[in-house]
Amino acid sequence: MVRIPVNTASHGYEAVIEHGILSRAGSILKQLFAGKPPLYIVTVAPVRRRWGKVLLRSLGEAGFTTKVIEMPDGERFKRLSTVESLAEDLLKGGADRKAVVLALGGGVAGDVGGMLASVYMRGVGLVQIPTTVQAQLDAAVGGKTGVNLRAGKNLVGTFYQPQLVLIDPATLATLPQREFRAGMYEALKCGVIGDEELFTRLERCSFKELRKDQEFLAWTIAESVRLKARVVSADEREGDLRRVLNFGHTIGHALEAATNYRHFLHGEAVAWGMIAASSIAADMSFCPRSVYERVRDATLQWGKLPAVTVQTAKVIKLIKSDKKTEAGVFHFVLPKKIGQVEVVNNVPEEAIAAAMAEIRKASRG
Ligand SMILES: NC(=O)c1ccc[n+]([C@@H]2O[C@H](COP(=O)([O-])OP(=O)(O)OC[C@H]3O[C@@H](n4cnc5c(N)ncnc54)[C@H](O)[C@@H]3O)[C@@H](O)[C@H]2O)c1
Ligand SMILES: [Zn+2]
Repeated sequence: MVRIPVNTASHGYEAVIEHGILSRAGSILKQLFAGKPPLYIVTVAPVRRRWGKVLLRSLGEAGFTTKVIEMPDGERFKRLSTVESLAEDLLKGGADRKAVVLALGGGVAGDVGGMLASVYMRGVGLVQIPTTVQAQLDAAVGGKTGVNLRAGKNLVGTFYQPQLVLIDPATLATLPQREFRAGMYEALKCGVIGDEELFTRLERCSFKELRKDQEFLAWTIAESVRLKARVVSADEREGDLRRVLNFGHTIGHALEAATNYRHFLHGEAVAWGMIAASSIAADMSFCPRSVYERVRDATLQWGKLPAVTVQTAKVIKLIKSDKKTEAGVFHFVLPKKIGQVEVVNNVPEEAIAAAMAEIRKASRG
């Protein structure tokens, strides 16, 4: 079992990673919660059907009482109204201040379950049990929770750290191919930001191997979590340091928004965003051209990404209105080399236009 400490200013906890760990969840939670509080599992139907039984059996054997509380599946249910109705369900289920929420599922269940735990009776216990690549190596660690408003994503939320993050890479076996691959681009991102070995091993790995090789998959997730844990431990609340995690996300978010969140999965938009940001960095002589080429080739080797047809003007407009853009100044995270990035705020619009032309061309070829 790999144990990764996350030490934020508000409190410290661990992310534990092991193939098959879901079936040992009970004994692990027993050590953490000696008083055996009632556990409320917040999840979605597709995940409950595939993984609910394994988890419930293990918790039951350890002597916990459990209740499953289901929310409808999908990003469109990441809303305050869902948090409210889950809170009603908690109350009906007898949950008091000692209750512990286990958020079991992808980033949506994690964000909603996390937010629910942070506000129910002004805060109850929380364990994150992520079951998508996106959630295991990103969403479950760091304590950001949130829901969407009509005007945009994650506009209402809290910072609320879990007491434990339990990561079972075995659960990824039932994930659709496209979801799996999209999440893996975030692992590549972690490599570019601060883990050259991770990047190098991923760039040499075919998509087939990635899906098949259990040990490598667990290692990849652990390395990515380690990177995120290191960043959020130093900077819990998105100061400058935490910004590096947004590598590929400035243009990525704009591509998602420009296509109404229907054309790309998040990770796919980030994949294009990483290629674009690296192209900007090379154009500005911030890094050697070879860095751009490696990021581009590593990203494109796992299969065709949805094409980019979005116009540059739309992307620039969206970047300017992004909640992370301050006073109209673009903040770009650019690679200096593989394993090192910096936040740069003097990226000219022409460089963005050139990068957009580059990814439009790459998506045709
Ligand atoms: N809090 C953070 O720091 C943070 C970071 C990154 C992303 N996010 C959020 O995460 C969300 C995206 O997460 P996601 O990509 O996991 O999407 P998701 O939670 O919608 O999961 C994708 C789909 O996979 C299904 N699924 C989950 N686990 C499965 C499994 N093991 N087998 C089969 N199907 C499974 C889900 O039911 C869903 O249909 C977004 O809302 C994003 O804003 C949050
Ligand atoms: Zn992301």
